Amino acid sequence: MSSSRYQMVLGLVLLVTAVSSVHGGSCPSPSPAKGYTDKAYYGLWYEIGKIQTAGGAYFEKDCVCTTINVKPKKGANNGDATAVNSCRKLKPNGDFLNATGSLTNEGPKGKWKEGFFWFTPKVDYTIIELGPDFAVEFDCGSTFGLVNYCIHILSRTPTQNKTLTTTLLKKAINMGLNVDNLDFKQTLQDGCW
Ligand SMILES: *[C@@H]1O[C@H](CO)[C@@H](O)[C@H](O)[C@H]1NC(C)=O
Ligand SMILES: *[C@@H]1O[C@H](CO)[C@@H](O)[C@H](O)[C@H]1NC(C)=O
Repeated sequence: MSSSRYQMVLGLVLLVTAVSSVHGGSCPSPSPAKGYTDKAYYGLWYEIGKIQTAGGAYFEKDCVCTTINVKPKKGANNGDATAVNSCRKLKPNGDFLNATGSLTNEGPKGKWKEGFFWFTPKVDYTIIELGPDFAVEFDCGSTFGLVNYCIHILSRTPTQNKTLTTTLLKKAINMGLNVDNLDFKQTLQDGCW
């Protein structure tokens, strides 16, 4: 597909999503994790699973083997960073579906705006839990009063202790972030590497 055609299709997907979302409202605005530092968040993360509205990041729909690699922007001293989202389409040897998000406007530490393409609205991007080998990232965007969000459970390794996953999910839910009461979906990380 040519890039303008590609963008048209993406725009259409966004529009359909917006129209098919039924509830109104605004995004929850959680605080970043206690003791958060950029340095502890930078680097490669494996997505263990997520809770996501249908309109959340359309390009992640078919993803397996999902990773996020967060790096400070070269020369930036204001917290600007990039988040390289990489995954495989439907199966571990499927095509790469990569998208680089720009993290800007950091403040407080651990809370950014994330944008993917010039024509898509930026979303709030907050690290609500952060430990040596786990993180929880919450992103949320509201367009015309329609809320789309995603809770990502991340790990430094492709697997995570199930007790820890459950604990992290409970915390996010108790913070009121699962607005639509959606189910957690495990991300396939088996046979990827
Ligand atoms: C997608 O990202 C992965 C991980 O960063 C990289 O290994 C791969 O070459 C990228 N593929 C494409 C087509 O951009
Ligand atoms: C997972 O974590 C829990 C709580 O920290 C611990 O009790 C349990 O032994 C761990 N399970 C494995 C398989 O490591």
